[in-house]
Amino acid sequence: MTSILVAGGAGYIGSHITCLLLQMGYQPVIFDNLSTGHIESVPEGVKIVVGDVRDTALVTSTLLDNKIEAVVHLCASSIVSESVSDPLKYFDNNVCGAISLLKAMSAASVSKLVFSSTAAVYGEPTRVPIHESDQKLPINPYGASKLMIEQIIRSTNINCVAFRYFNVAGAGFNVGEMHDCETHLIPCIIKNTLNQKPAFIFGTDYNTADGTCVRDYVHVVDLAVAHELGLQRLLKGQTGFEVYNLGTKNGMSVKEIVSEIQKLINVEVVLKERRPGDPAVLIANADKAENELHWKAERGAAEIVKDAVKFHVDQESALRQKKQ
Ligand code: UFG
Repeated sequence: MTSILVAGGAGYIGSHITCLLLQMGYQPVIFDNLSTGHIESVPEGVKIVVGDVRDTALVTSTLLDNKIEAVVHLCASSIVSESVSDPLKYFDNNVCGAISLLKAMSAASVSKLVFSSTAAVYGEPTRVPIHESDQKLPINPYGASKLMIEQIIRSTNINCVAFRYFNVAGAGFNVGEMHDCETHLIPCIIKNTLNQKPAFIFGTDYNTADGTCVRDYVHVVDLAVAHELGLQRLLKGQTGFEVYNLGTKNGMSVKEIVSEIQKLINVEVVLKERRPGDPAVLIANADKAENELHWKAERGAAEIVKDAVKFHVDQESALRQKKQ
């Protein structure tokens, strides 16, 4: 069995990737400090090493002890607003964490890496849909930290497939988005509604059809599938550094997402001022992933919303039962 280290495997995206790898016959091993990840998200039978990715010695021994052939690196701080208020945390955790992992991979002679990057590397897009080669001018330390890591990986001998995620949402494999500090649109609206609180729309005066921001929402299970395809390429011997946008090429406005959710639960909406730093429109051109990896998002907004609502409804009822 091919052993894969999923660094950050107890987090939202990492747990979906781990479940998919398990289902496809790989042997995933999770490395996670559980700062934002959840032990409950680790599937039964999967080994977890609890530690910080900046602990190079621990990462090295984990790679060697488990005969790891490739790494999926997802450990990162990822709240854009927090990256603005505490930039050094982001450069330390994200950039120093990646450097530590690369050192450990070199010490353990592991040369295959799938790296989790972000659409935040582009900053304000010069055109939409955004192509991988477009200008990269991040407007917050989170995006800057991910772009730096891409550049660092490029200058090493590591063979890497990097993915720039657009707006990841939805749920699968009985796991889902469980951030203590939630900022993302879909879980914020659902969680607020289930807790009888209003949901907020930040900004209705953007230069878009209905005045609200447009994003490219990609289902987390589709995203996990892309990671497995990236791993396959590396395991078959692909060398060098390749980067791919992961999105659907379709934009949905905040109001359109709210309407999708309203089909399932009764959302009360409050209109608010713009949230600082939100570009009006972010849509991926994902042709490169389609042409080279034969990857295409199969699940649309309706499925994303349906799966997210189901996950949060189940979570809330489990919580209520616990309290009783
Ligand atoms: N929004 C609301 N109400 C909410 C939450 C969000 O109206 O309660 C709006 C935001 O203002 C924005 C849109 O919904 O217009 C999407 O916001 P998210 O926070 O869900 O996602 P972002 O587009 O801000 O962020 C995503 C990723 C980041 C990544 C960024 C790239 O989650 O990790 O894209 O620009 F950095």
